[in-house]
Amino acid sequence: MSQEHPTADPAPDAAVAADPSPGPDPVLIPGTDRIRPDYRTLFRLDGRRAVVVGGGSGIGRESCLALAAAGAEVVCADRDLAAAEATAAAAPSADLVTAYSLDVLDPDAVARAATDLDPVDTLVLTAGTNVRKPVLDYTAEEFERVVALNLRAAFDLVRAFGPGMAERGAGSIIALSSMRAIAVEPGQGVYAATKAGLLQLLRTVAAELGPRGVRANTIAPAGVATPLTQQIRTDPQWERAYADKTALGRWATPDEIAGVVVFLASDAASYITGTQIVVDAGWTAIDGRYTPPM
Ligand SMILES: NC(=O)c1ccc[n+]([C@@H]2O[C@H](COP(=O)([O-])OP(=O)(O)OC[C@H]3O[C@@H](n4cnc5c(N)ncnc54)[C@H](O)[C@@H]3O)[C@@H](O)[C@H]2O)c1
Repeated sequence: MSQEHPTADPAPDAAVAADPSPGPDPVLIPGTDRIRPDYRTLFRLDGRRAVVVGGGSGIGRESCLALAAAGAEVVCADRDLAAAEATAAAAPSADLVTAYSLDVLDPDAVARAATDLDPVDTLVLTAGTNVRKPVLDYTAEEFERVVALNLRAAFDLVRAFGPGMAERGAGSIIALSSMRAIAVEPGQGVYAATKAGLLQLLRTVAAELGPRGVRANTIAPAGVATPLTQQIRTDPQWERAYADKTALGRWATPDEIAGVVVFLASDAASYITGTQIVVDAGWTAIDGRYTPPM
């Protein structure tokens, strides 16, 4: 189990990173009782176990591979076991990523997973869905379906995995929200509502579990090229419009989100909790009405 907060009196089971070279001699940071971390291994996750829910595709798949490359033992949990196995097979060597069959809409299965996979240092929630249509056209069934996966399942997962983290006094919960938690557009009402709800749920989890050493944060991407956004990317005008909303003039690829997942899982983010990291290439910073002559 890792120690997220090195102090002059580190826990006896503090993680030792798999760096063969000796670390620097322990030095206190001036004016504090905190030992300066070994900056060479600040982003490493050796000795930690990460569970990525929805790791069979898109952002979840790249997160599995990035977390494994940073040294974590990774469990790729997905309703689609074949997809989870494909993620595991994409890792550079066997056993770095293990596939696990999990339907997060089944609360009993979620509770079982928390027992099966214990202890878990990092929980990454990526399973999500969207039905793009105006609020007035939504059916009750569609509403329930989007809320069940995007919000209810996150609630169940946090409640299943959170207690173990709190008992051990360390952990990082990372949920994929969306820039739609901040800025909306026609046709994204229910999706946006679930993502804003997820943000507030995770902020509250951060407030409740922070005193017990557990951090909780969300990541809010804009357009990422994954199967979830296939509908948009097959329409050239829609696809271009999304790219043009960003300062970089393009969509993200899922690896560009995976690095943020690794960061939030690592001790480099030891003072980050209760927040949302926006990964949108400037979309929400720019109002986009007009570029004045300059
Ligand atoms: N792609 C984007 O542009 C984008 C932008 C903002 C936010 N997000 C969010 O990021 C997250 C990941 O998105 P993505 O684009 O990688 O999605 P994706 O559709 O590529 O992958 C989702 C994965 O979740 C799994 N899944 C679905 N239902 C499940 C269930 N009941 N139990 C277990 N696993 C289940 C799927 O099998 C799939 O492997 C989502 O929450 C999404 O809302 C995505």
